Amino acid sequence: MSTIKDLNDGKLPNHIAIIMDGNGRWAKQQGRQRVFGHENGVKAVKQTVENCAKIGLDYLTLYAFSTENWKRPKIEVDTLMKLLVSSLKKELDTLNKNNIKLNAIGNIASLPKKAYKELNEVISKTSENSGMTLTLALSYGAREEIKSAVYEISVKVKNNIISPETIDETIINTHLYTHDLPDVDLLIRTSGEHRISNFLLWQIAYAELYFIDVFWPDFSEHHLVEAIINYQNRERRFGKTSEQLN
Ligand code: FPP
Repeated sequence: MSTIKDLNDGKLPNHIAIIMDGNGRWAKQQGRQRVFGHENGVKAVKQTVENCAKIGLDYLTLYAFSTENWKRPKIEVDTLMKLLVSSLKKELDTLNKNNIKLNAIGNIASLPKKAYKELNEVISKTSENSGMTLTLALSYGAREEIKSAVYEISVKVKNNIISPETIDETIINTHLYTHDLPDVDLLIRTSGEHRISNFLLWQIAYAELYFIDVFWPDFSEHHLVEAIINYQNRERRFGKTSEQLN
């Protein structure tokens, strides 16, 4: 079993993003309700966040709730929101103890009042932390994010604040929810599905993708370390040739 000690910290990814998938199937496998899977998913979130901070990662982004997830049965949506509120309340001290700064991306204003309030409170109470930035993607959809960036840029063009000729990748970046985050280096998806599911479409342009056939509640230190070791053994060429890199 690989552990954090097995990592060569010279070549760590700067930003890991995770699509935490498989809570429902994990619960079904044990003859339990989907909610049970989400409750255990929260334990894997806590463990993964603490491990990433321990490894010394700068940025971790978790896909906790997508714009499409609103279409799930009300009882499941309500449970996920309750879990979010209780986890935020419970983990504030852990975040501070580990010097982790909380951040959120997505249509945060669409969250239930309680979740919105708790989220902002924890964001504010961890804002001075200088270690890892933990970003929760909540009511997040990449197409919606890009649409809203295009809208904001169009309004600025219309009002002569910027000219169309100056629109470049930097300007687009600054209008995304992730304007203060670097590009993703490693994207992990659990549960064996090989999909991106509308997550960080712009930001993963050059990310290394890693799919693992383990349901999210079972994702442990060993799996995280294996994903990072796999990443460390890849050659990231960014369009160049191997020879140019050497
Ligand atoms: C995917 O599993 C997981 C989700 C839609 C939600 C992720 C949420 C958590 C891990 C818990 C709450 C998070 C925080 C940050 C407190 P699925 O339900 O799609 O599983 P399935 O594909 O097997 O049905």
